[in-house]
Amino acid sequence: MAAPAAYGKEQVLNIIYTGSLQGELEPCGCSPKTDFGGLARLSGYIKENKKGLSPYLLVDAGNFSSEDTPQGRLKTETLLKAYGIIGYDAVAFGKREAVLPADFLLPVSHKYKIKVVADSPNYSRAVLKNINKLNIHLGTNPEGPEKGKINILLSDINVSDAKTIKGWDVIILSSEEILEEPVKTNSAIIVAGYPKGKKFGILTLHLDRTGKVTDFRHKWQPLGADIKEDKAIRQILNDYDSQVAGLLKKTEKPLTESAYLGTAKCAECHQPFVESWEKTKHAKAFSSLEHVGKSFDPECVICHTVGFAEGGFFSMEATPGLANVQCEVCHGTGRKHLSDFEKPLKPVTVYVCLKCHTNDRSPDFNYPSYLEKIKH
Ligand code: HEC
Ligand code: HEC
Ligand code: HEC
Ligand code: HEC
Repeated sequence: MAAPAAYGKEQVLNIIYTGSLQGELEPCGCSPKTDFGGLARLSGYIKENKKGLSPYLLVDAGNFSSEDTPQGRLKTETLLKAYGIIGYDAVAFGKREAVLPADFLLPVSHKYKIKVVADSPNYSRAVLKNINKLNIHLGTNPEGPEKGKINILLSDINVSDAKTIKGWDVIILSSEEILEEPVKTNSAIIVAGYPKGKKFGILTLHLDRTGKVTDFRHKWQPLGADIKEDKAIRQILNDYDSQVAGLLKKTEKPLTESAYLGTAKCAECHQPFVESWEKTKHAKAFSSLEHVGKSFDPECVICHTVGFAEGGFFSMEATPGLANVQCEVCHGTGRKHLSDFEKPLKPVTVYVCLKCHTNDRSPDFNYPSYLEKIKH
């Protein structure tokens, strides 16, 4: 290897990084407090701030894939398509990618011209990049830093293991750990992609005339609703929604005899209760999905209807009477109740609510005050 090239002047290089997206294309929007992340915002931010960010490298440290299910594969493919358009310089494959079959991942990566780095014979183990005459080596094999280059390791190992690795200037992880501040070891600066892409990192390297890293700055850029979306990526996400709707249409139709009766039936005997329920947000939960084009997505429908995947709601065409968060979500299925009114229905406790009011979806959930709002 040649001695470090003389670059002539001091300079800076921004490394924009993500890692551990875990299939998150965009946040659900259930609560403003957790409404962070999403590929359309990421791309929108980079486009809008290109000048200030340059010169920059854009990398993903791996573990971006969703599960190996039909919907999960659609997500993973959508993610890679978006990465191709956003222009990632390197995308590492981690443990989540390793479990996906090669006959799925390989053609998809080719199709979208993804610069993959992976510890696998199917892909390259490194990507070389030249920015402003800086020789940058992006690799995934901890044994392989190269002399005279800026060495950046993309890996899914955890922080404590990364601390023992030598010879790399920067180590970017996708371990699902939250590293609020970079860790500086004798040789490397270690950072980790924020889980599910709620924010992305910008690591600014200061380099001397020989290209040696002399200092660094780090900042997180949160991806909140204030960030303008990239329209091209929005289109890709909308295409994904249509494909998901197609998947749902292919699955089997529900049984006609359901254990769920639906609110219209309860109204025959409990009209006042139905009227006051209609004033709660639960009665409009399905239209919230329609507003954002997600009314065919099982991952959303499950909490915004009654009895989805349990013989209740299936689709607006097949089971319109079971849309929204209805009576039977809390009181239990009503069919047995009809033959014996004395038989007590399921007692309603906080645990019923917590099935849907999770930390991520409903960070403000508080049982007494929420109960007050649904009194009927
Ligand atoms: C685990 C259950 C759950 C899942 C899954 C879920 N939601 Fe929600 N969603 C909720 C709850 C609970 C609220 C109410 C949160 C609150 O106000 O405390 C909510 C609220 C919302 C709202 C805000 C409605 C308003 O008042 O303006 C939107 C929009 C929404 N969800 C969309 C989605 C989308 C899109 C998905 C799928 C990507 C989804 N939800 C998946 C439980 C869920
Ligand atoms: C099947 C899932 C589900 C269950 C179970 C559930 N909720 Fe909800 N809840 C939702 C969804 C979805 C919304 C958002 C409705 C919308 O605006 O789209 C919501 C909204 C609410 C809101 C309105 C919040 C606001 O922003 O004003 C209150 C209050 C509430 N739920 C209370 C409760 C309580 C109390 C329980 C338990 C007794 C409960 N919920 C059980 C899904 C559920
Ligand atoms: C989000 C959960 C939730 C939903 C949705 C809901 N309820 Fe309730 N309901 C409760 C809770 C909580 C109580 C009061 C505590 C209790 O008695 O279990 C209650 C009380 C009642 C009672 C009085 C019970 C008694 O012992 O006096 C009736 C009747 C009732 N609900 C009917 C309905 C009907 C009909 C609907 C649909 C239109 C409905 N509820 C929707 C949670 C819910
Ligand atoms: C044909 C009339 C009828 C229908 C339909 C009906 N109920 Fe009832 N329900 C009753 C009667 C009668 C009682 C017992 C007397 C009372 O408390 O009002 C009762 C009691 C209840 C109670 C309070 C007692 C308990 O066991 O907790 C709840 C909650 C309730 N019904 C919910 C529902 C729900 C939800 C539906 C729709 C799925 C429904 N009911 C449909 C007639 C009906």
